[in-house]
Amino acid sequence: MKVSVSPGHNINGTLILPLFEGSEEVPDSHEVGLHTALKSQINRILLEGDFKAKLKSTMSIIGSEGGKAMLVGLGKEDDADLHAYRKAGAAVIANRKKAHGTDLTARFSGASIEVMGAFAEGMLLRDYSYDHYKQQDEDDKESEIDVRITCDEGQEDELSSAIRIHAGVASGVHLSRDLGNCPPNDMYPEAFADQAWEWAKQYDDVEVTIINYEQAVKAGMGGLVAVGMGSARKPCMVIFELNGKKSGRCPLLVGKGITFDTGGISLKPGANMDEMKYDMGGSATVFGTMHALASTGHKGKVVAITCMAENMPSSNAQRPGDVIKTLSGKTIEILNTDAEGRLVLSDGLWKAGEFDPEYIIDFATLTGACVVALGHEATGLWSNDDDFRTRIHEAGNAVDELAWPMPLLPAFEKEMTDSKIADTRNLGAGRWGGANTAAAFLKQFVPNRNYEKDGEQITWAHMDIAGTYWGAKTNSMVGNGATGIHVRTMYHLITNG
Ligand code: BES
Ligand code: ZN
Ligand code: ZN
Repeated sequence: MKVSVSPGHNINGTLILPLFEGSEEVPDSHEVGLHTALKSQINRILLEGDFKAKLKSTMSIIGSEGGKAMLVGLGKEDDADLHAYRKAGAAVIANRKKAHGTDLTARFSGASIEVMGAFAEGMLLRDYSYDHYKQQDEDDKESEIDVRITCDEGQEDELSSAIRIHAGVASGVHLSRDLGNCPPNDMYPEAFADQAWEWAKQYDDVEVTIINYEQAVKAGMGGLVAVGMGSARKPCMVIFELNGKKSGRCPLLVGKGITFDTGGISLKPGANMDEMKYDMGGSATVFGTMHALASTGHKGKVVAITCMAENMPSSNAQRPGDVIKTLSGKTIEILNTDAEGRLVLSDGLWKAGEFDPEYIIDFATLTGACVVALGHEATGLWSNDDDFRTRIHEAGNAVDELAWPMPLLPAFEKEMTDSKIADTRNLGAGRWGGANTAAAFLKQFVPNRNYEKDGEQITWAHMDIAGTYWGAKTNSMVGNGATGIHVRTMYHLITNG
């Protein structure tokens, strides 16, 4: 999608008219340049109450002498915040038909830069489909959507730069979605690493380092190795550094990247197993965030680590009963090979300490239990620092990506560290509180500052995106498939201090 901005009144292609609930006629400010036939048709629709302008509703007018139009509801004027404008923008793209054409003019007047920016953001985000694997007739191919936003005189520069940022961040969301939607025969650990490597080439200030299987074995990354060794597609760790030469502490993101989770020897049931291609959603979130930051020219230092592996059953797979030694030196008794995300993360979190980060946030499609707790409406959010947890929750609220506070309790830590033969166990004692026991397990692998034995643990948060990375039907920015959740949350958190 191309979005341009200008204060003129002419309408290219289909007119997009955002309206508040209760509008009984086209606002005066929108009349200039509007064909009288189209204006009177819209006025009749509004007067007769045929379009109530409820939030996200749209009505198409096609075949009018005065040109094509789409009315879009912003809901009640008093409630029309940034989220409402973003949703309305997304609704335009969701409901656009071929007959509307690809040239759209969204008309605003007297609107703030922020709300127009949010409307454009919604359009940009919703303009996504994953059809790389579909044959398409040349005749069916549409050209790129070209949107013009008409604003007031003097707003164009500020609005253009706001939209440039939204476009960069949206491309990060779309990258995360592309990675997640990619079928697992093509998205395996090395394919992800190769893509990261190729991606980094376009930026002078980005560096990608790949720790391959042999190097991971040598380094003692026992968690990553144990999960990945059962697959012909060997595991790896990918490290992204943006402005890595800058000094000082920086945010550090860690992602679970299980490119397919069969459960391993603790094999999952067959139903919906195909969805386990999304089990690399955490790594996609992290890669997408790095793209959002790099493409918008973020000047601060940010590091990300993705732990990539395919969890397969095979003669070389790990077994329930195995005890493995992780990068931290701590051992884990494997009681269920389907609890593999926490194993690869144990090495990723420990590795993060090498960068002496300001904070660590991990993203993982970690537990079915989190989906039981929160459905598809919110990500589970745990932290060893209450204020930090609140900051992330608020960053999520600011961009309409809910992350809900969950408890990190000593009792859960105790449960995960009382193995008879190892330092930790990868399964809780019972099945209750499975998302919380998983978080408590991860905490065992968050290093203290400078790895000092009695030092303070690095500020850390864990985000379980099992319910929000795909299948979230109420996410207005997404039609289907991977959602790309939390790229925007992270962009907001990192760029707003
Ligand atoms: N990738 C799954 C978690 C998952 C399940 C995400 C369903 C989304 C939907 C994870 O690796 C897993 O299998 N977790 C187990 C943990 C259990 C064995 C302690 C689970 O949630 O059942
Ligand atoms: Zn699993
Ligand atoms: Zn998994």
